[in-house]
Amino acid sequence: MSAYSSFAYVYDILMRDVNYEGWIDYIEQIFNRYGLKPRNIVELACGTGNIANRLAKRDYNVIGTDLSEDMLMVAQEKAADLEVPVIYLHQDMKEMMLPNELDCILCVCDGMNYILKESDLKQIFQSVYEHLKDGGLFIFDISSHYKLSHILGRNTFAENHKGVSYIWENYYDEKRGVCDFDLTLFVQEEKLYRKHTESHSQRAYREEEITSMLDKIPFKKMDFFDAFTFQKPNLESERIYFICQK
Ligand SMILES: C[S@@+](CC[C@H](N)C(=O)[O-])C[C@H]1O[C@@H](n2cnc3c(N)ncnc32)[C@H](O)[C@@H]1O
Repeated sequence: MSAYSSFAYVYDILMRDVNYEGWIDYIEQIFNRYGLKPRNIVELACGTGNIANRLAKRDYNVIGTDLSEDMLMVAQEKAADLEVPVIYLHQDMKEMMLPNELDCILCVCDGMNYILKESDLKQIFQSVYEHLKDGGLFIFDISSHYKLSHILGRNTFAENHKGVSYIWENYYDEKRGVCDFDLTLFVQEEKLYRKHTESHSQRAYREEEITSMLDKIPFKKMDFFDAFTFQKPNLESERIYFICQK
């Protein structure tokens, strides 16, 4: 089954300990640091809208795009409950169709690791650049090479929650530089649990691979930081933020 189909309906249960408000605070600190007061923001790979809906709640105009219709369905329902006017679009970020002159394009929580081919990633960086206004920001993060190869790769994780349990088996392939995740979910339906399986793959990019691709795009400024700080990443950084200004 394709990635983020069954998983979409339990994603928020499994992410419930993530401090999304703190995540938005960090994004707003980035806006301040780069002197940007954005109005129009696009979030690529927005998933179930945890970031997009919260940004809209803070009065930004937000469009969220994602490859998974199921994730978008959940995002849309949550936006309706929160009464926030986010526009959700079903789009592969490899074929971006967005308004021009955007203030900010975001992609957080691993979206770029799902782009397995360097040529696709380069083309995404170029399209993002073309859709930003002068001074606009491109903010994205990756799960680091260290995290995918040493923490997630070659490990199995399991969690047992009320109504949903999962087994997450990970295999890191050094040659491809890709971590393949096999997910088995057991979701309660009345007295029985239904088993679902799906597979995801994430590429373990090294920060220098990303910076050398970004160097070829004419951004005026480019920085990268250990996530949620403005410090340079260290050898054990698990999430790295890249910030590019047009
Ligand atoms: C780990 S989730 C992150 C979701 C969300 N950004 C968050 O913070 O919770 C990764 C998302 O990337 C999406 N994705 C993967 N490949 C994509 C692609 N080529 N284009 C658009 N979205 C993609 C998946 O469907 C999934 O919703």
